[in-house]
Amino acid sequence: MTKDERVLITGCGGMLGKAVYEKAVEKYGKESVVATDIDLNEEWLSLLDVRDTAKYEEAFQKYKPTIVIHLAALTDLEYCEQNINDAWATNGLGAENAAMLSRKYDALLVYISTAGIFDGEKDEYADFDTPNPLSYYAKSKYHGETFVEKHLSKYYVFRAGWMMGGGIKKDKKFINKIYKQIKGGAKELFVVDDKLGTPTYTVDFASSMMKVIDSGYYGLYNQVCDGSCSRLDVAEEFVKLLDLQDKIKVTKVTSDYFKTEYFAPRPASEKLINVKLTMRGINYMRDWRVCLKDYSEEFKKDFYGTI
Ligand SMILES: NC(=O)c1ccc[n+]([C@@H]2O[C@H](COP(=O)([O-])OP(=O)(O)OC[C@H]3O[C@@H](n4cnc5c(N)ncnc54)[C@H](OP(=O)(O)O)[C@@H]3O)[C@@H](O)[C@H]2O)c1
Repeated sequence: MTKDERVLITGCGGMLGKAVYEKAVEKYGKESVVATDIDLNEEWLSLLDVRDTAKYEEAFQKYKPTIVIHLAALTDLEYCEQNINDAWATNGLGAENAAMLSRKYDALLVYISTAGIFDGEKDEYADFDTPNPLSYYAKSKYHGETFVEKHLSKYYVFRAGWMMGGGIKKDKKFINKIYKQIKGGAKELFVVDDKLGTPTYTVDFASSMMKVIDSGYYGLYNQVCDGSCSRLDVAEEFVKLLDLQDKIKVTKVTSDYFKTEYFAPRPASEKLINVKLTMRGINYMRDWRVCLKDYSEEFKKDFYGTI
């Protein structure tokens, strides 16, 4: 089955795209995978702006994908708050384009959503809970989810949590933000303990996704690492993995401390549990601490100068 597939990936130059591209090539073969983005940061990427409906359709006509993995999104919450139209165009219209064209050309669509679509009033969220997005990023991502579900029958929506992956070059999120401070010589890190979530390692997420989409059990799935934590837990674990616990102090603060820098509304809890994957016997995600240990190797080598 896998040999006959043709795969089109959008937004593949980002932190998740790296792992998804590698897993897709491993599974389907390099000649069957077309990876696109607006940021051409790899030689294997070609240009596709998902806001451009005509160009997106041209890509369908040219590559005739049987599977479309739609990763393209604006993922900076503050940027989305300040550039609402762009957030809607990219995350909302882009997802609509993906869904509409997948239906027209009979492709399987894989759409990535986020734990951030919940309002944090509950402690943790199962696949069946009702979202109530707070930020424009979350609203636009949730719009994508609902559009896909409404218009397609052959689709997967995977909800990720706090993404970690992509490495020093591509990781735009928490781990690399912490690492940049450490690398810059910080002896004290200020980290919030009032934001809870479930880390999601891109390598596990991508390889799991490749297996789940073979199941034929279409639909929406929470897909995060096992275990949950606060940002503070993640920072402390990362510092320990770098063997820096005696040199760097991790100081607990509340979200108020960062209210100017991170002004977009964020839920107090965006903890997900993979209820459906587990019930169907297709939950392949490992514990976040095990994943962070794997992920930290690259940072460790960089820090101690062995790469
Ligand atoms: N990062 C997270 O914590 C997180 C959590 C849950 C779900 N997700 C979802 O996971 C998916 C992958 O995101 P990621 O974590 O890999 O984030 P990412 O590193 O920001 O990757 C997204 C990629 O999409 C590109 N892009 C932006 N606008 C585009 C457009 N109009 N057309 C085509 N490509 C465009 C981005 O380019 P630029 O870099 O130039 O913007 C970037 O290369 C997204 O759907 C995201 O919403 C992410």
